[in-house]
Amino acid sequence: MCRMGVGAILRGQVTEKTMRSVWRLGLRIVSVAAVLASLPVAAQERGDADRGARLARQVCIACHGIRPGESSVNPSAPPFDAIAATRGMSEMALNVALLSPHREMPNIVLDARERADIAAYILGMK
Ligand code: HEC
Repeated sequence: MCRMGVGAILRGQVTEKTMRSVWRLGLRIVSVAAVLASLPVAAQERGDADRGARLARQVCIACHGIRPGESSVNPSAPPFDAIAATRGMSEMALNVALLSPHREMPNIVLDARERADIAAYILGMK
């Protein structure tokens, strides 16, 4: 199809049909390129529950129950399974919660990947 199209263009016989198939081929290349361009971003933003669990064991466990059924060391910190069970809890809601400073630990600052990892870990308990 492609060789025929180019041949037709070279011979000056560009029909409307040829133009349309060249156009469609172009569209296909553009959409494949768009998918490829979006891949690294998607891979970056998807949280890894295992990394989230590791971070929780290192930092959050000081106050929160981090495993299902585990109660919190700090009674005013909700255990993670309770956070997961909160109605309407979603990755976006968790992101908002994690972006706002902790009242009792204002120096906890998580980057975007850590927030995604923690969200994947906590939401995995739903
Ligand atoms: C020093 C104790 C402490 C540590 C460490 C701690 N938290 Fe908290 N966290 C709290 C307390 C107390 C609350 C409830 C009051 C508040 O929101 O500040 C809370 C609230 C939260 C909430 C909000 C829950 C809701 O329903 O809005 C989330 C989410 C959360 N913590 C996640 C984490 C994560 C993830 C970590 C580890 C990276 C962590 N916390 C480490 C004490 C802590």
